[in-house]
Amino acid sequence: MAARRALIAGNWKMHGLAAAVEELDRVIQGFGAELSSKIDLLVCPPFTLIEEFAATAKGSKVLIGAQDCHPKASGAHTGDVSAEMLADAGAKAVIVGHSERRADHGEGDALVRAKAEAAFRAGLIAIVCVGETQAQREAKQTRDVVLRQLQGSVPDGAGASLLVIAYEPVWAIGSGLTPSSGDVTEVHGLIRNAVSARFGAAMGSATRILYGGSVKPDNAASFLKANDVDGALVGGASLKAADFLAIASRAV
Ligand code: 13P
Repeated sequence: MAARRALIAGNWKMHGLAAAVEELDRVIQGFGAELSSKIDLLVCPPFTLIEEFAATAKGSKVLIGAQDCHPKASGAHTGDVSAEMLADAGAKAVIVGHSERRADHGEGDALVRAKAEAAFRAGLIAIVCVGETQAQREAKQTRDVVLRQLQGSVPDGAGASLLVIAYEPVWAIGSGLTPSSGDVTEVHGLIRNAVSARFGAAMGSATRILYGGSVKPDNAASFLKANDVDGALVGGASLKAADFLAIASRAV
């Protein structure tokens, strides 16, 4: 299996005012040479903080990303932000298809795919999120839902250097509930096989697959050491530098 460099990504969601740059500073200070030689660390603040965060992180190994983008590069789309604008502001990655956007804004797979294409067009890493709801899990539809979302949301032109998949079971987000590491490995294995079947074995083994959903310092190791898990997409615990760095340290 190809060696995949772990990626620990923080999704700040709708949190953070100007003063939050101090928290980013602590992340930068704590991401020392030893850790940064082994893993990638990404912070995705709200749009309003991207430019300042990118300027603050410049010269460090901490990457800055966004939580969404519009499929088009520009145009009459009030309130939207394009992937090109994110790149221009200093972002290196963008999360697309997060379940909160799928639920809050009715985003479907075709739109998520178009957003991922926009990310690639702008040279950004697209972190494409998939995951089943509680009801789907109870109905034993996890496999079907994840594979359908994956097929629909990942563009044909994807390459392993800019594509990251995040498996985030909806019921595990913000709930303190988590699947077992065995369950996560099983779903990640499905995802990897599907990527291999569609894009070839080399891409299957090179694509990073993150787990997300109530990842905390005390449970991070169980996921990050599991087979086929190449990192984490962290919500609440990414807002505190100490917790985020503690999670990152479990990836090595
Ligand atoms: P929590 O870590 O707060 O459960 O959020 C996970 C998530 O949605 C990351 O994108």
